[in-house]
Amino acid sequence: MNVANTPDIFYPSQEVIDQANVSDYEAMYKYSVEDREGFWAEQAETLSWFKKWDTVLDESNAPFYKWFDGGQINIVHNAIDRHLENANRNKMAIIWEGENGQKRNFSYNGLNREVCQFANVLKSMGVEKGDVVTIYMPQIPELVFAMLACAKIGAVHSVVYGGFSTEALASRIDAAHSRVLITADGGWRRGKQIDLKSIADDAMKRSPSIEVCICVKNNELDVEMEPSRDFWLHDLKALPIAGSTCETEPTEAEDPLFILYTSGTTGQPKGMVHTHGGYAVYTSTTHRMAFDIKPQDRWWCAADPGWITGHSYIVYGPLINGATIMLYEGAPNYPYPNRWWQIIENYGINILYTSPTAIRGLMRFGERWPKKHDLSSLRLLGSVGEPINPEAWKWYHSVIGNGKCPIIDTWWQTETGGFMICPLPVTPLKPGSATKPFFGNEITIVNDDGVEVAANEEGKLMINNPWPGMARTVYKDAQRYKDLYWAEVDGKWRYLAGDSAKKDDDGYIWVIGRIDEVLKVSGYRLGTSEVESALVSHPSVTEAAAVGLPHELKGNAIHTYVILKDGVVADNKLALELKAHVGAEMGKIAMPEAVEFVDSLPKTRSGKIMRRVLKARALGQDEGDLSTLEE
Ligand code: WT7
Repeated sequence: MNVANTPDIFYPSQEVIDQANVSDYEAMYKYSVEDREGFWAEQAETLSWFKKWDTVLDESNAPFYKWFDGGQINIVHNAIDRHLENANRNKMAIIWEGENGQKRNFSYNGLNREVCQFANVLKSMGVEKGDVVTIYMPQIPELVFAMLACAKIGAVHSVVYGGFSTEALASRIDAAHSRVLITADGGWRRGKQIDLKSIADDAMKRSPSIEVCICVKNNELDVEMEPSRDFWLHDLKALPIAGSTCETEPTEAEDPLFILYTSGTTGQPKGMVHTHGGYAVYTSTTHRMAFDIKPQDRWWCAADPGWITGHSYIVYGPLINGATIMLYEGAPNYPYPNRWWQIIENYGINILYTSPTAIRGLMRFGERWPKKHDLSSLRLLGSVGEPINPEAWKWYHSVIGNGKCPIIDTWWQTETGGFMICPLPVTPLKPGSATKPFFGNEITIVNDDGVEVAANEEGKLMINNPWPGMARTVYKDAQRYKDLYWAEVDGKWRYLAGDSAKKDDDGYIWVIGRIDEVLKVSGYRLGTSEVESALVSHPSVTEAAAVGLPHELKGNAIHTYVILKDGVVADNKLALELKAHVGAEMGKIAMPEAVEFVDSLPKTRSGKIMRRVLKARALGQDEGDLSTLEE
């Protein structure tokens, strides 16, 4: 995709301009970078604090920045409690629909009751401030309640995506030394029950730190409950101790709110740590401004709460802004490819925020499915996770948005907590570009020496300043955080995102993709090393390499190269077995598209697999500089 060759510019309509929360991007941007602390203090003022901060930004130990230090807050006090005192009390907070058509709704008042009860249950199980609770759940309201219940009492949640499997869950429980696991008997996908509890059981066998497992009843699966370790949530909620009121615990602004593990270049996933204060300010501000949130909005971020997109823009940002959120558990095309469009019509959704992969997936069924539905409630559309190809952009814009909804393409990462590059609804759009930096952020595209490259030239995406939503550290590995992301350029600490990008003549940023060993498959982030270690854990495999190759629907698909142990016969049956093995260890999303048996792998003299060479070979491209190749 040659992004620079897309000449189209889409200007906002007068209607969009008239109702914009922020109408002059340039003026606000100028102010936000000239007086960054002033800008963020102003945003922080819109939240409720138990105690006001002493300093907006503390740079004394950079790149370990502190925001709103000395302040006391709790994100749940802002996401729920303060809404109970105003007109939001009886407003719908969560609308949930299950794949089989089940419906559950919660007002802010109802949400509060659920979260208080859950928080009391956690307390009764000995959970205290600072404890890490692992959550492994399908997309049901209890997942949101569990997260908020942890935050309410100052415990730290670590959500593991429900699509992950045994090894992925076990390694994340281990890394966080979690004592408590919250899960469910199972979830639903394409009419089938997904057996989560038995995966959790296997994971608990591998990671013995779990003493208490709280299980939500969500379907009819028969599950094994280990006495004195496993408890049904509904049994615990029936106990007198689980009353429907619970005080929200004041936390320091810099106290950890959650850990979210994300794949990196090498080794085990990194636990990115986000805080109560800065994260609350950042997610609510970006959500309110980029998506022009209005009090009557019904907001649908069709991601899974188990990823950062869900943390920031299903749960925290929207609830702080008092929006009504839509939550759907199930496949987008089940039972028919109109499921999403039906949901938009049924609930009068105003804003849809999803991924290019999902759009491409639904696009292939043709216009006739969305055309069956009244989608006129839509005002804005959003995209996240990977670059959106202009073809999908235009389909989304014309067929789903009827040509009148600006597409808010948001570039950000698990590490950044919230949008870093995105348009406002008033920004002229170029399909495929996330446009300009969000307020307070200065972004440059640099070469390997940290020097800015010329317009339209490819380089590394660098962020020159701290922002309130930034991850503060890698859990229990501050050094890794500093080494992986930060570089000192011209005497200042700069954040290197791991992406390559270009800036065009108008200053629009075009993100190209990852430059490290991170794969983006259907917008999901996976490490090559995780896929490789899952392969190597199979008894027939000695060595393996994984690369991402372009794929029409998924963006990237995983291709693997496997060296078998002596005497093992390479055949199609084994290839299928290896794919299934990765699926069982890591989860379906990590299942390789292809397994190729090889006798050797290209390596550097120091023994590092040269994935770039494998990739070039597979694509029939020039293999580049091979001077460091071992043989
Ligand atoms: C990586 C971060 C941020 C929530 C979802 C992903 C890629 C993300 C875009 C976009 C081009 C994008 C980048 C980034 N990415 N959004 N709008 N345009 N690329 O979070 O799993 O931490 O992945 O996703 O490569 O580094 P994540």
